[in-house]
Amino acid sequence: MAELIKINGDTFEPFITEEKIRQRIKELAGRINSDYRGKTPIFIGVLNGSFIFLADLIREIHVDCEIDFFKLSSYGDAKISSGQVTLLKDLNCQVEGRDIVVVEDIVDSGLSIAFIKNIIEKENPMSLKFVSLLLKKGIPKIDFPIDYVGFEIPPDFVIGYGLDYAQKVRNLKSIYRLTPQASTASGNS
Ligand code: IMP
Ligand code: MG
Repeated sequence: MAELIKINGDTFEPFITEEKIRQRIKELAGRINSDYRGKTPIFIGVLNGSFIFLADLIREIHVDCEIDFFKLSSYGDAKISSGQVTLLKDLNCQVEGRDIVVVEDIVDSGLSIAFIKNIIEKENPMSLKFVSLLLKKGIPKIDFPIDYVGFEIPPDFVIGYGLDYAQKVRNLKSIYRLTPQASTASGNS
């Protein structure tokens, strides 16, 4: 993996390699393929952060499936959540009676995923499960499980592979984390 990355005076170090991400996605997809055998789930990506993870995950899924997207905003341009979640784009699909799998890039405070759960449950799905590539240890204030977790990570700010810093660096192929000496600086979805 590449060297240190500097953005706005913050330094990010290599954290999870492309190879590790690819391998873990295969394992998660294997479990999902077996859990949804004979079913036609709808995978719901949460924009913007999950677009790369969803694209890679879906290509390892071998059951019939559909795709839709929510778009949420919570971080603005900061490294710390605003604590407020806004729905910027609703679903186009019919959720009622369907097997729904929500795909997130990262569960940090848990506010976004709890917000989504609430919206989807009102539409009476047949089932509802959650996939997140990353889960920040000890932070999420949620009282339900994330069914498929790629990596549990410390509560550090991370970028790359869809995750942004002030809307940039989503295109990095691997995941980087803020180095400790820079972690007091200001800070994004
Ligand atoms: P929440 O705090 O669990 O509601 O997380 C909201 C969203 O913020 C996530 O889906 C990500 O898009 C974004 N986010 C959370 N933590 C990070 C991070 O460390 N880096 C970049 N984006 C993040
Ligand atoms: Mg997200």
